[in-house]
Amino acid sequence: MREVCEGVEAEIERQGGGVAFPAQSSRNALAAHYCSAPDDETRYAEGDLAKLDIGVHVDGWVVDTATTVNVGDAPANRLLVEAAEAALSAAIGAAAPGVSVRTLSRVLEQEIRRRGLRPMRNLCGHGVGRWTVHCAPAVPNVLAPGDPDHLLTPGSVIAIEPFATDGSGEVGEHGMPEVFRVPPAAPLGELPGVAPALVAAVAAFRGLPFARRQLRAFPPDEVQAALAALRRKGVLQSYAALREAWGRPVAQAEHTLLVRDDGIEVLTA
Ligand code: CO
Repeated sequence: MREVCEGVEAEIERQGGGVAFPAQSSRNALAAHYCSAPDDETRYAEGDLAKLDIGVHVDGWVVDTATTVNVGDAPANRLLVEAAEAALSAAIGAAAPGVSVRTLSRVLEQEIRRRGLRPMRNLCGHGVGRWTVHCAPAVPNVLAPGDPDHLLTPGSVIAIEPFATDGSGEVGEHGMPEVFRVPPAAPLGELPGVAPALVAAVAAFRGLPFARRQLRAFPPDEVQAALAALRRKGVLQSYAALREAWGRPVAQAEHTLLVRDDGIEVLTA
């Protein structure tokens, strides 16, 4: 799994892009945010429902896309993949300038529920911006009565990411975080006991998420010490893997769209 994610990141850079967040591959009941540690030896197995979530930036402008691979084409997983993909296609079909985000949520939810499955309530699509992977508007996968509405306006960029499960439709945190973020405005200065080059390497992510394996140029214990120092300073955000509450498998599909004056453009197709 680590080789796949590192291969994705190497290919992004080979093509002249930047890695907007460490490639993540969450299997089965893990819906999102599983990111291989530097020494992760986990292998994909027959029957896995394997998500692959990829972020690319060019000069800070981010796109976010994900797909799900039904490893070995397990029949039990086919409907989940189909539901996530159909929901994404339907939402892309419904998106246009002036359309309400609530319309997208309704379409996403309907496509998944009509197959007898549940969308993930507490995972959302989102706006993307410069050096920013998540910003307004949220694009919920379930239509909630109290959610604020938002109309798609030309120039905005949104990631739509339906998740389908035959479980509860909610995720909770699971395991140790392997994805981190330091907000760009955080004053790093000098961190006691941390090499200035390592502080500079963290600052170079410019507020984008990162993983320990992207800091492999530094000794692992120094990286751990730096993360601990950033945490003590109160500037480190951590993202643990997110697991379906009943332990049921989850499929995901995701594309990033640019809203234009006369329609939309899928940036990640
Ligand atoms: Co996303």
